[in-house]
Amino acid sequence: MKTTMRTDYCGVFRSEHTGRFVSVCGWVGRRRDLGGLLFTDLRDRTGILQLAFDENTAPEVFETALSCRAEYVIRAEGKIRERSAKNPDIPTGDVELEVTSLEILAQSETPPFAVESSDKVNDSLRLKYRYLDLRRPELQSAVAMRHKVAKVCREYFDELGFLEIETPMLTKSTPEGARDYLVPSRVKPGEFYALPQSPQQYKQLLMLAGFDRYMQITRCFRDEDLRADRQPEFTQIDLEMSFVTQDDIIEIQEGFIKRVFKEVLNVDVKTPFLRLTLREAMSRFGSDKPDLRFGCEIRDISDIVKNCGFRVFSEPVAAGGSVRLINVKGGASVFTRKQIDALVEFVKTYRAKGLAWSALGAENVTSSYRKFLSDTENAAVSERAGAEQGDLILIVGDANNDIVLTALGALRRECAAITGLIKPDIYEFLFVTDFPLFEFSEEENRFVAMHHPFTAPADEDRDLLDTDKAACRAKAYDLVLNGTELGGGSVRINDPCMQMKMFEALGFAKDEAEERFGHLINALKYGAPPHGGFAYGLDRLVMLMAQAESIRDVTAFPKVQNASEPMTGCPGSVDEKQLAELGIRIIR
Ligand code: AMO
Repeated sequence: MKTTMRTDYCGVFRSEHTGRFVSVCGWVGRRRDLGGLLFTDLRDRTGILQLAFDENTAPEVFETALSCRAEYVIRAEGKIRERSAKNPDIPTGDVELEVTSLEILAQSETPPFAVESSDKVNDSLRLKYRYLDLRRPELQSAVAMRHKVAKVCREYFDELGFLEIETPMLTKSTPEGARDYLVPSRVKPGEFYALPQSPQQYKQLLMLAGFDRYMQITRCFRDEDLRADRQPEFTQIDLEMSFVTQDDIIEIQEGFIKRVFKEVLNVDVKTPFLRLTLREAMSRFGSDKPDLRFGCEIRDISDIVKNCGFRVFSEPVAAGGSVRLINVKGGASVFTRKQIDALVEFVKTYRAKGLAWSALGAENVTSSYRKFLSDTENAAVSERAGAEQGDLILIVGDANNDIVLTALGALRRECAAITGLIKPDIYEFLFVTDFPLFEFSEEENRFVAMHHPFTAPADEDRDLLDTDKAACRAKAYDLVLNGTELGGGSVRINDPCMQMKMFEALGFAKDEAEERFGHLINALKYGAPPHGGFAYGLDRLVMLMAQAESIRDVTAFPKVQNASEPMTGCPGSVDEKQLAELGIRIIR
């Protein structure tokens, strides 16, 4: 939009604009001084425009331009002209601005790093000066993409009748999964609010209140260890709807993903997405969030090796476990012996005792196990693996099936990364369904809710709540993209007795459940519609769409490993007076 100060953004100019008189504003980037000619890059959020200054035609402007250093903010006026040396690397590379008037709007000290090359600068310095780091085109476009995703989201869900409703940030602490961020109350000393881990209970209460379809783009807070796809403070696209089944909820998500990928990336995503039960996902890919961009599926060879003479294979099967393999296509020529040894160590970090392997090289076959198996057994293993010359067969056996599957699942990803099997620009979505309702927490020595305590059990598994918790499945589902959990949701319990039963199953005494969740149990007594929902991690969605490596790269002001923010230095200490008001004394 044209303002008093400028006619256009820097990034818009092409050959067709030649001859136009324009004014632009932005930050000074690289410059090339050719004696009486000076070229300066001018940068704004849309791109870079080359400014040309000529000592002969505009000597005063030239003088001012010479005094402009990196990151000065300037306003330049002049005529767009064809460049004599075109730059095919930038969209405006055919033209430049012949500057006839120049104004310095703000000076800049020498920045701690050059904006253009700040991706090579260490992370902590970049994050300390995040406002400079954010001037980089990659970050500018990631933040702009995030805006676009949010916009499409609002449009899509609005068209489907969803209402955007805000829910509180100061809430009641309820044990739900991660650790809470607590906020002390001044008015009630010794009492605390919790920042929401998600608006889960409020959105359900909105369904009970009759709003029927709710959507909110909202901040969530979880005090958990950071990872590339985890921040203590992150954003969800949070959804809840009434009078729907799991299939309806999934279908609405497929529509959203299709729309957002088309509008933001111009990528056509095929729907419906593949659906795998958790059991299938685990047995074929060794993961509850399988990456489907490459094959390399896990195959069970327990039946082939159960009676073989090699105890590393036969014993796990006899003990009720299994022996399974993956076949890394073309792996024999890619992996050196040293790299294979590294894979053996790699699976040990997943509690596997070891890794048996066979490299079917063109010249010869080398293997850690073939000599212990008969020719028939070896042939059957190769056939099950679908192995051809050039392939690398990797086998894990263990009395514990979970160890076999998770080790091979991780190995599958590791090998795909090493061999470059993962193609960029491919988006493989799937829904994983039929999660267990409970998982056993070794730490707490009790069953905890796998999704959250408001998730409904599968209809046919309701009785298992009393008899076999471990076998009870939930009406819960996750959306997975390229090996990352993008979102999750469930159909909820809408019967107060069932909800109470669920809290009991989770080990809450009746009065404890009343004290913590009384508001919800009560609300369920006054006509609760069948309802369910879903929540996307917006940061993760944008990270994958922008092909960024971490959600930090799509978050304007992220936290670092120890949950601090290097720019402002938070968290920080506060005055004694503030602490006293809150009735808090720090014990060191
Ligand atoms: P869940 O806990 O699965 O479900 O969270 C939903 C999605 O939020 C994202 N996410 C995160 N993103 C960044 N950093 C984090 N620390 C983080 N934690 C979660 C993930 C995840 O899939 N209330 C339920 C949803 C529902 O049942 O409707 C919930 O919060 O992408």
